[in-house]
Amino acid sequence: MGCKIVGHGKALPELIVSNDDMAKIVDTSDEWIVERTGIHNRRIALEETTTSLGTDAARNALADAGLAADDIDLIVCMTISADAVVPSQAALIKMQLGASNAVAFDLNAACTGCIYGMDVASTMIEASVASEDGSGIGHRRNAMRRALVVGAERLSRITDWTDRATCVLFGDGAGAIVLEWDDNAPGILASFLKNTDDEALCLTVDANHDLRPFPFGDGVRMESLGEVMDIRNDDGEFWPQLPYIRMHGQRVFKFATAAIVEAGREVCERAGIKLEDVACVIPHQANDRIIRFAAKKLGVPYERWQVSIGETGNTSASSVLMALHDAYESGRIRPGDFVMCVGFGGGLTSGALVFEA
Ligand code: UT7
Repeated sequence: MGCKIVGHGKALPELIVSNDDMAKIVDTSDEWIVERTGIHNRRIALEETTTSLGTDAARNALADAGLAADDIDLIVCMTISADAVVPSQAALIKMQLGASNAVAFDLNAACTGCIYGMDVASTMIEASVASEDGSGIGHRRNAMRRALVVGAERLSRITDWTDRATCVLFGDGAGAIVLEWDDNAPGILASFLKNTDDEALCLTVDANHDLRPFPFGDGVRMESLGEVMDIRNDDGEFWPQLPYIRMHGQRVFKFATAAIVEAGREVCERAGIKLEDVACVIPHQANDRIIRFAAKKLGVPYERWQVSIGETGNTSASSVLMALHDAYESGRIRPGDFVMCVGFGGGLTSGALVFEA
């Protein structure tokens, strides 16, 4: 018994932006981007919103599961580019879907969001089942059997289009799955979550509050993240407040390669399976070089890794669920397969999850 994935979907904006298009706005080239990242194109939302992308992905996942919005008890949305702080992105998607029975909230674990979201949603379902099965474990809580787990990002809103080191990397899109309690299937077998202090603030997006002057005293200040955390950059200065993705690529690369290997090893050990038993790996799509490195280090052939980055770029909290959808669609995941999802990113977060399809 456990939580099983019974539906999956994704949604992409219409506009395709190629590397050559990027070379028209910053000093870059198709050759550099492909060689360093594996990215060829990314989608950018002109008409679409985080809400519309998340809702479309969720609708596709529901259709794939053969379920109606009313069947859903819980919606968890992972995002760093929500359309609003309040209501939550999940609440906006719930409204659009008409999921009248669901409770909804957001979760921010940056690019590892999909792993954290799947873990949190399945834990809530498992706890709900445990509280009702008469075993006396846990307090009485909402009855939950089915959850929509949605990753939705419009990173183009928080991208600095003058910074070639970051703007060529990111894209927009959404992915979703339906998790359902199953009395007979094992579903999710194990998870591993970790937070490593980002002491040098190597991956950040400052909050973007437009504060009007407070009419008493000296007014309200808006500190940069560097001031809040009392951390300075390499020149000994606080970074200015900047509501865009800012990344020290090499430092994050170093963290990512170590984190993906650690999470992959740990989760398989917890699941009681060997790495060679994993039929398909769904990694966070940040860089094809990171995926190749991890494949070699973990000894899981590159051919078993779902690589979707070429056409979407890095879509942060959406990436693993979008790639998971691609893997199902291409027939790479068959019933009974052991599948590993693994992610890393801002926070610094990392984690992995193994399920039996
Ligand atoms: O999703 C969250 C987690 N994110 C990640 O895991 C990303 C991890 N980091 C990376 O994937 C890589 O570090 C990047 C793809 C971001 C960068 O690749 P890199 O091989 O680490 O390049 P670099 O930052 O060391 O830059 C190498 C050179 C520099 O020029 P110099 O100093 O050697 O003359 C950069 O200025 O490439 C230059 N450069 C570019 N050149 C052309 C940086 N960005 C670009 C660009 N086009 N877009």
